Amino acid sequence: MKLSFVGTGMIGGGLAVNAALHGYDVSLYDLLDPEKVKTNIRGIFNIMVESGACTEQEAEKAMSLMTFTQNIKEAVEGAVFIQECVPERLELKQETYRKIQEIVGDNAIIASSTSTIFPSKLSDGALFPNKIIVGHPFNPSYVLPLIEVCGPQADMSTIDEAVKIYKSMGKEPVICKKEVNGFIANILSLMVKDMSMKAVLDGVCSVEDIDKAIMYGPGLRMAITGQLLTMSLGVPGGFREMSAKYGHTDPEIIRQECEIADGVDAEIENREEFMGRTVEDIIKFRDKTIVDILKLYRKF
Ligand SMILES: NC(=O)c1ccc[n+]([C@@H]2O[C@H](COP(=O)([O-])OP(=O)(O)OC[C@H]3O[C@@H](n4cnc5c(N)ncnc54)[C@H](O)[C@@H]3O)[C@@H](O)[C@H]2O)c1
Repeated sequence: MKLSFVGTGMIGGGLAVNAALHGYDVSLYDLLDPEKVKTNIRGIFNIMVESGACTEQEAEKAMSLMTFTQNIKEAVEGAVFIQECVPERLELKQETYRKIQEIVGDNAIIASSTSTIFPSKLSDGALFPNKIIVGHPFNPSYVLPLIEVCGPQADMSTIDEAVKIYKSMGKEPVICKKEVNGFIANILSLMVKDMSMKAVLDGVCSVEDIDKAIMYGPGLRMAITGQLLTMSLGVPGGFREMSAKYGHTDPEIIRQECEIADGVDAEIENREEFMGRTVEDIIKFRDKTIVDILKLYRKF
Protein backbone atom coordinates (compact mmCIF):
# COMPACT_ATOMS: atom_id res chain seq x y z
CA MET A 1 0.00 0.00 0.00
CA LYS A 2 1.36 3.39 -0.96
CA LEU A 3 1.59 6.37 1.38
CA SER A 4 2.80 9.74 0.18
CA PHE A 5 4.59 12.50 2.11
CA VAL A 6 4.37 15.96 0.62
CA GLY A 7 7.06 18.14 2.17
CA THR A 8 9.88 16.13 3.69
CA GLY A 9 11.53 18.42 6.23
CA MET A 10 11.71 17.94 9.97
CA ILE A 11 8.21 16.47 10.29
CA GLY A 12 7.51 14.84 6.91
CA GLY A 13 10.87 13.06 6.78
CA GLY A 14 10.39 11.52 10.22
CA LEU A 15 6.88 10.26 9.50
CA ALA A 16 7.97 8.85 6.13
CA VAL A 17 10.67 6.85 7.93
CA ASN A 18 8.02 5.43 10.34
CA ALA A 19 5.79 4.41 7.42
CA ALA A 20 8.60 2.66 5.53
CA LEU A 21 9.77 0.85 8.67
CA HIS A 22 6.24 -0.54 8.92
CA GLY A 23 6.35 -1.91 5.40
CA TYR A 24 4.53 0.76 3.37
CA ASP A 25 5.64 1.83 -0.09
CA VAL A 26 6.53 5.43 0.59
CA SER A 27 6.74 8.25 -1.87
CA LEU A 28 8.45 11.48 -0.82
CA TYR A 29 7.73 14.71 -2.67
CA ASP A 30 9.57 17.98 -2.11
CA LEU A 31 10.74 20.97 -4.11
CA LEU A 32 14.27 20.09 -3.00
CA ASP A 33 16.68 18.00 -5.05
CA PRO A 34 15.72 14.33 -4.36
CA GLU A 35 19.36 13.53 -3.61
CA LYS A 36 19.31 16.09 -0.80
CA VAL A 37 16.06 14.64 0.57
CA LYS A 38 17.58 11.16 0.39
CA THR A 39 20.58 12.35 2.42
CA ASN A 40 18.25 13.83 5.08
CA ILE A 41 16.30 10.58 5.26
CA ARG A 42 19.50 8.54 5.60
CA GLY A 43 20.37 10.81 8.53
CA ILE A 44 17.06 9.95 10.25
CA PHE A 45 17.59 6.22 9.66
CA ASN A 46 21.08 6.57 11.19
CA ILE A 47 19.53 8.11 14.31
CA MET A 48 16.99 5.27 14.46
CA VAL A 49 19.72 2.63 14.20
CA GLU A 50 22.04 4.35 16.70
CA SER A 51 19.20 4.75 19.22
CA GLY A 52 18.18 1.10 18.84
CA ALA A 53 14.76 1.84 17.29
CA CYS A 54 15.60 -0.45 14.37
CA THR A 55 18.45 -2.53 13.02
CA GLU A 56 20.67 -1.58 10.07
CA GLN A 57 19.01 -4.30 7.98
CA GLU A 58 15.53 -2.96 8.81
CA ALA A 59 16.66 0.55 7.90
CA GLU A 60 18.07 -0.66 4.56
CA LYS A 61 14.88 -2.57 3.76
CA ALA A 62 12.76 0.48 4.63
CA MET A 63 14.96 2.75 2.50
CA SER A 64 14.41 0.41 -0.46
CA LEU A 65 10.64 1.01 -0.12
CA MET A 66 11.07 4.74 -0.64
CA THR A 67 10.91 6.75 -3.83
CA PHE A 68 11.96 10.39 -4.09
CA THR A 69 10.49 12.80 -6.59
CA GLN A 70 9.92 16.43 -7.50
CA ASN A 71 6.88 15.40 -9.56
CA ILE A 72 3.63 15.73 -7.60
CA LYS A 73 1.65 13.44 -9.93
CA GLU A 74 4.22 10.67 -9.57
CA ALA A 75 4.23 11.22 -5.79
CA VAL A 76 0.51 10.98 -5.05
CA GLU A 77 -0.91 8.80 -7.84
CA GLY A 78 -2.09 5.50 -6.32
CA ALA A 79 -1.53 6.64 -2.73
CA VAL A 80 -4.29 5.87 -0.25
CA PHE A 81 -3.04 8.33 2.32
CA ILE A 82 -1.11 11.55 1.86
CA GLN A 83 0.54 13.36 4.76
CA GLU A 84 1.03 17.03 3.92
CA CYS A 85 4.03 18.56 5.69
CA VAL A 86 4.72 21.78 3.77
CA PRO A 87 5.43 25.06 5.61
CA GLU A 88 2.73 26.54 7.84
CA ARG A 89 1.03 28.83 5.29
CA LEU A 90 -2.70 28.44 4.64
CA GLU A 91 -2.63 29.43 0.95
CA LEU A 92 0.29 27.11 0.23
CA LYS A 93 -1.48 24.21 1.93
CA GLN A 94 -4.79 24.89 0.13
CA GLU A 95 -3.01 25.17 -3.23
CA THR A 96 -1.22 21.89 -2.50
CA TYR A 97 -4.55 20.11 -1.78
CA ARG A 98 -6.03 21.47 -4.99
CA LYS A 99 -3.12 20.01 -6.99
CA ILE A 100 -3.30 16.70 -5.14
CA GLN A 101 -7.09 16.27 -5.42
CA GLU A 102 -7.01 17.06 -9.14
CA ILE A 103 -4.82 13.96 -9.43
CA VAL A 104 -6.28 11.56 -6.84
CA GLY A 105 -9.90 12.76 -6.70
CA ASP A 106 -11.57 11.55 -3.52
CA ASN A 107 -9.64 8.29 -3.46
CA ALA A 108 -7.06 9.37 -0.89
CA ILE A 109 -7.14 10.95 2.54
CA ILE A 110 -5.04 14.08 2.93
CA ALA A 111 -3.80 14.67 6.49
CA SER A 112 -2.14 17.96 7.32
CA SER A 113 0.67 18.21 9.87
CA THR A 114 -0.37 21.76 10.73
CA SER A 115 0.06 22.83 14.34
CA THR A 116 -2.19 25.87 14.18
CA ILE A 117 -4.66 25.83 11.26
CA PHE A 118 -8.17 24.41 11.69
CA PRO A 119 -9.27 21.67 9.26
CA SER A 120 -12.34 23.71 8.23
CA LYS A 121 -9.95 26.45 7.01
CA LEU A 122 -7.60 24.00 5.29
CA SER A 123 -10.47 22.32 3.44
CA ASP A 124 -12.29 25.56 2.56
CA GLY A 125 -12.72 25.63 -1.25
CA ALA A 126 -11.19 22.18 -1.72
CA LEU A 127 -12.55 19.77 -4.34
CA PHE A 128 -13.22 17.14 -1.65
CA PRO A 129 -13.24 18.87 1.77
CA ASN A 130 -14.51 15.73 3.50
CA LYS A 131 -11.21 13.99 2.65
CA ILE A 132 -8.99 16.59 4.34
CA ILE A 133 -8.15 16.28 8.03
CA VAL A 134 -5.43 17.33 10.44
CA GLY A 135 -2.96 14.68 11.61
CA HIS A 136 -0.77 16.68 13.96
CA PRO A 137 2.51 14.99 14.94
CA PHE A 138 5.16 16.04 17.44
CA ASN A 139 8.85 16.69 17.02
CA PRO A 140 10.92 14.46 16.88
CA SER A 141 8.28 12.88 14.66
CA TYR A 142 10.35 9.74 13.93
CA VAL A 143 10.19 8.68 17.59
CA LEU A 144 7.24 10.43 19.26
CA PRO A 145 4.12 8.34 18.59
CA LEU A 146 1.43 10.98 19.23
CA ILE A 147 -0.74 12.14 16.31
CA GLU A 148 -3.72 14.42 17.01
CA VAL A 149 -6.43 13.69 14.47
CA CYS A 150 -8.96 16.47 13.93
CA GLY A 151 -11.58 16.82 11.20
CA PRO A 152 -15.09 17.65 12.37
CA GLN A 153 -16.02 18.46 8.74
CA ALA A 154 -14.69 15.13 7.41
CA ASP A 155 -16.55 11.81 6.99
CA MET A 156 -16.33 9.59 10.07
CA SER A 157 -14.99 6.85 7.79
CA THR A 158 -12.09 9.18 6.85
CA ILE A 159 -11.22 9.69 10.51
CA ASP A 160 -11.48 5.94 11.21
CA GLU A 161 -9.28 5.08 8.23
CA ALA A 162 -6.66 7.68 9.21
CA VAL A 163 -6.56 6.29 12.75
CA LYS A 164 -6.07 2.79 11.34
CA ILE A 165 -3.22 3.90 9.09
CA TYR A 166 -1.44 5.85 11.83
CA LYS A 167 -1.67 2.85 14.17
CA SER A 168 -0.21 0.63 11.47
CA MET A 169 2.73 3.06 11.22
CA GLY A 170 3.42 2.58 14.94
CA LYS A 171 1.85 5.90 15.91
CA GLU A 172 -0.65 6.60 18.73
CA PRO A 173 -3.52 8.66 17.30
CA VAL A 174 -5.91 10.59 19.56
CA ILE A 175 -9.05 12.33 18.36
CA CYS A 176 -9.54 16.05 18.85
CA LYS A 177 -13.33 16.29 18.45
CA LYS A 178 -13.52 20.08 18.20
CA GLU A 179 -11.48 22.73 16.46
CA VAL A 180 -9.62 24.38 19.32
CA ASN A 181 -6.37 26.35 19.27
CA GLY A 182 -3.45 24.06 20.05
CA PHE A 183 -5.63 20.98 19.52
CA ILE A 184 -5.02 18.85 22.67
CA ALA A 185 -1.39 18.63 23.74
CA ASN A 186 -0.04 22.06 22.84
CA ILE A 187 -2.67 23.74 25.04
CA LEU A 188 -1.20 21.84 27.99
CA SER A 189 2.42 22.49 26.93
CA LEU A 190 1.76 26.22 26.58
CA MET A 191 0.08 26.43 29.98
CA VAL A 192 3.05 24.66 31.57
CA LYS A 193 5.45 26.94 29.67
CA ASP A 194 3.61 30.07 30.85
CA MET A 195 3.50 28.94 34.48
CA SER A 196 7.15 27.82 34.35
CA MET A 197 8.26 31.22 33.05
CA LYS A 198 6.17 32.93 35.72
CA ALA A 199 7.78 30.85 38.48
CA VAL A 200 11.27 31.82 37.27
CA LEU A 201 10.45 35.50 36.64
CA ASP A 202 8.69 35.80 40.04
CA GLY A 203 11.90 34.52 41.67
CA VAL A 204 10.32 31.26 42.87
CA CYS A 205 13.08 29.08 41.42
CA SER A 206 15.79 28.89 38.74
CA VAL A 207 15.23 27.69 35.17
CA GLU A 208 17.19 24.55 36.02
CA ASP A 209 15.02 23.81 39.05
CA ILE A 210 11.70 24.30 37.26
CA ASP A 211 12.85 21.84 34.60
CA LYS A 212 14.12 19.37 37.23
CA ALA A 213 10.81 19.72 39.10
CA ILE A 214 9.10 18.27 36.04
CA MET A 215 11.79 15.81 34.92
CA TYR A 216 12.19 14.11 38.30
CA GLY A 217 8.62 14.38 39.54
CA PRO A 218 5.30 14.72 37.76
CA GLY A 219 6.91 14.39 34.30
CA LEU A 220 7.92 10.80 35.08
CA ARG A 221 4.40 9.89 36.17
CA MET A 222 2.76 11.73 33.28
CA ALA A 223 4.90 9.84 30.78
CA ILE A 224 3.30 6.63 31.99
CA THR A 225 -0.26 7.46 33.04
CA GLY A 226 -0.93 10.91 31.55
CA GLN A 227 -2.55 13.52 33.78
CA LEU A 228 -6.05 12.38 34.74
CA LEU A 229 -5.18 8.72 35.36
CA THR A 230 -2.13 9.88 37.36
CA MET A 231 -4.36 12.03 39.58
CA SER A 232 -6.90 9.24 39.89
CA LEU A 233 -4.20 6.83 41.13
CA GLY A 234 -3.29 9.32 43.86
CA VAL A 235 -6.59 8.92 45.74
CA PRO A 236 -8.03 5.58 46.86
CA GLY A 237 -11.28 5.31 44.90
CA GLY A 238 -10.03 7.75 42.26
CA PHE A 239 -11.99 10.80 41.11
CA ARG A 240 -15.23 9.55 42.74
CA GLU A 241 -13.62 9.97 46.16
CA MET A 242 -11.66 13.15 45.45
CA SER A 243 -14.20 15.64 46.78
CA ALA A 244 -14.65 13.65 49.98
CA LYS A 245 -10.86 13.49 50.46
CA TYR A 246 -10.28 17.19 49.85
CA GLY A 247 -13.45 18.41 51.56
CA HIS A 248 -15.24 19.80 48.49
CA THR A 249 -19.00 20.00 48.80
CA ASP A 250 -19.94 21.85 45.59
CA PRO A 251 -22.34 19.46 43.79
CA GLU A 252 -21.14 20.72 40.38
CA ILE A 253 -17.51 19.82 41.18
CA ILE A 254 -18.66 16.41 42.45
CA ARG A 255 -20.64 15.88 39.22
CA GLN A 256 -17.63 16.86 37.08
CA GLU A 257 -15.32 14.53 39.01
CA CYS A 258 -17.78 11.65 38.53
CA GLU A 259 -17.82 12.33 34.78
CA ILE A 260 -14.01 12.22 34.73
CA ALA A 261 -14.10 9.03 36.84
CA ASP A 262 -16.26 7.36 34.16
CA GLY A 263 -13.65 8.35 31.57
CA VAL A 264 -10.82 6.98 33.71
CA ASP A 265 -12.73 3.67 34.04
CA ALA A 266 -13.03 3.47 30.24
CA GLU A 267 -9.31 4.32 29.85
CA ILE A 268 -8.33 1.56 32.28
CA GLU A 269 -10.49 -0.94 30.43
CA ASN A 270 -8.89 0.01 27.10
CA ARG A 271 -5.29 -0.30 28.30
CA GLU A 272 -3.10 -2.99 26.88
CA GLU A 273 -2.82 -5.97 29.19
CA PHE A 274 0.94 -5.51 29.81
CA MET A 275 0.36 -1.92 31.01
CA GLY A 276 -2.12 -3.09 33.65
CA ARG A 277 -5.91 -3.17 33.59
CA THR A 278 -6.57 -2.83 37.31
CA VAL A 279 -5.46 -0.01 39.62
CA GLU A 280 -3.06 -2.39 41.40
CA ASP A 281 -1.49 -3.62 38.14
CA ILE A 282 -1.19 -0.10 36.74
CA ILE A 283 0.63 1.07 39.88
CA LYS A 284 3.03 -1.90 39.59
CA PHE A 285 3.64 -1.09 35.89
CA ARG A 286 4.11 2.62 36.69
CA ASP A 287 6.65 1.99 39.44
CA LYS A 288 8.66 -0.49 37.38
CA THR A 289 8.73 1.85 34.38
CA ILE A 290 9.82 4.82 36.50
CA VAL A 291 12.67 2.73 37.89
CA ASP A 292 13.64 1.67 34.34
CA ILE A 293 13.78 5.32 33.23
CA LEU A 294 15.70 6.37 36.35
CA LYS A 295 18.27 3.65 35.70
CA LEU A 296 18.91 5.39 32.35
CA TYR A 297 19.38 8.62 34.34
CA ARG A 298 21.80 6.69 36.61
CA LYS A 299 19.63 7.29 39.68
CA PHE A 300 19.50 3.59 40.56
N1 LIG B 1 8.68 21.47 13.44
C1 LIG B 1 7.82 21.08 14.37
O1 LIG B 1 8.15 20.95 15.55
C2 LIG B 1 6.40 20.75 13.98
C3 LIG B 1 5.62 19.96 14.86
C4 LIG B 1 4.34 19.60 14.47
C5 LIG B 1 3.82 20.05 13.27
N2 LIG B 1 4.58 20.84 12.45
C6 LIG B 1 3.99 21.26 11.16
O2 LIG B 1 4.52 20.45 10.13
C7 LIG B 1 4.56 21.19 8.90
C8 LIG B 1 5.97 21.15 8.34
O3 LIG B 1 6.86 21.69 9.28
P1 LIG B 1 8.40 21.30 9.32
O4 LIG B 1 8.89 21.74 10.67
O5 LIG B 1 8.62 19.90 8.89
O6 LIG B 1 8.97 22.31 8.22
P2 LIG B 1 10.33 22.18 7.39
O7 LIG B 1 10.65 23.55 6.96
O8 LIG B 1 11.35 21.40 8.15
O9 LIG B 1 9.91 21.30 6.12
C9 LIG B 1 9.07 21.78 5.12
C10 LIG B 1 9.45 21.06 3.83
O10 LIG B 1 8.49 21.39 2.84
C11 LIG B 1 9.19 21.63 1.63
N3 LIG B 1 8.34 22.48 0.79
C12 LIG B 1 8.21 23.83 0.78
N4 LIG B 1 7.28 24.20 -0.14
C13 LIG B 1 6.80 23.05 -0.70
C14 LIG B 1 5.83 22.77 -1.70
N5 LIG B 1 5.16 23.73 -2.28
N6 LIG B 1 5.62 21.47 -2.03
C15 LIG B 1 6.30 20.47 -1.43
N7 LIG B 1 7.24 20.68 -0.46
C16 LIG B 1 7.47 21.95 -0.12
C17 LIG B 1 10.49 22.28 2.03
O11 LIG B 1 11.47 22.16 1.01
C18 LIG B 1 10.82 21.47 3.29
O12 LIG B 1 11.56 20.31 2.98
C19 LIG B 1 4.07 22.60 9.25
O13 LIG B 1 2.72 22.71 8.95
C20 LIG B 1 4.30 22.68 10.76
O14 LIG B 1 3.42 23.57 11.40
C21 LIG B 1 5.86 21.17 12.76
